[in-house]
Amino acid sequence: MSESAHGRRIVLHNRLEERESPFRLAEDARRGLTAETRTMPPKYFYDDRGSRLFEAITRLPEYYQTRAEREILERHADAIVARIRPGVLVEFGSGAADKTRALLDAMRSAGTLEGYAPLDVSREASQRAAEALIRDYPDLRVEGVIGDFERPHHLPFPGRRRLLAFLGSTIGNFERERSIAFLAGAAAEMSPADGFLIGFDLVKDADTLERAYDDAAGVTAAFNLNLLRVMNRELGADFDLAGFRHRALYDASLQRIEMHLVSTRDQTVHIPAIDLTVQFAEGESIRTELSHKYTRASVEALLRRSGLALCDWFTDERQRFALALARLP
Ligand code: SAH
Ligand code: TRP
Repeated sequence: MSESAHGRRIVLHNRLEERESPFRLAEDARRGLTAETRTMPPKYFYDDRGSRLFEAITRLPEYYQTRAEREILERHADAIVARIRPGVLVEFGSGAADKTRALLDAMRSAGTLEGYAPLDVSREASQRAAEALIRDYPDLRVEGVIGDFERPHHLPFPGRRRLLAFLGSTIGNFERERSIAFLAGAAAEMSPADGFLIGFDLVKDADTLERAYDDAAGVTAAFNLNLLRVMNRELGADFDLAGFRHRALYDASLQRIEMHLVSTRDQTVHIPAIDLTVQFAEGESIRTELSHKYTRASVEALLRRSGLALCDWFTDERQRFALALARLP
């Protein structure tokens, strides 16, 4: 905070767990890779390279989600801001904070804009985003947190009227129960005047969904494989990136995409930092991401179970994506 007292307009609090390399990766890799269904937490995708690859995903022709959400924001940001009149925008998983500008613009036009609080694990993406924003919003103060948004957080700018935002359908990347825990945690921090704007990708045909997570140019494959690079660099592992391929499958009964890294042959991987050897038979995989898809009814149920209530619902013209505005009931 001393920095802002000296007139600096960007403050990014570091809440990454310092003693583990990076953010508990070793512990999470041990737990994830020795479980019956091998999984890794998706937050480890987003080192500098991963954040840039994700930004490339948002521009892919197959990845309609970002364009659909931007369309909704551009059309409805004024109405959303008029309902809440927030001084501060708090954004979970803010990344490049590009679509965010539609909300900041609406707050500026309404004359309420004071501060922006990004929360993200990626130091690089957050720093780049904050610098670009203060250039374009001369009166904006940015006070963010670099850390895991699943850990309890005290949100910056206490006492101000806040709009919370969780865009990009990142909520869909949680297991169902964790999405409820996450939303309930945010609800516990909200006051009755605050709003929470959440992006949801909607249920649709499997083909469109699978192409959005397995693009022709192979950017999503490179993003998924980046997780192995991170483990090689941070844990001294010897994953052979040529020995794994990306796979995305839609499970219609669970209404979710599952992303895997599939071993293309029998192989053994060593992870010296955690003294672990993992055997992969050909076809065995690590599940690296879930991406749940929603309907208005499933969103209403999710919000209700989390102690929130839907107060407005916006979709793009083609009904591919939705923004839910929630408040305390
Ligand atoms: N909001 C942007 C980015 C979405 S990608 C958009 O809509 O395009 C998901 C973002 O969440 C990334 O920036 C990633 O770094 C961040 N993230 C993923 N898991 C996280 C976690 N556990 N804690 C904090 N940030 C996380
Ligand atoms: N929140 C995004 C989504 O579920 C994250 C994402 C998009 C993603 N493409 C991906 C995660 C590919 C892993 C791999 O749409």
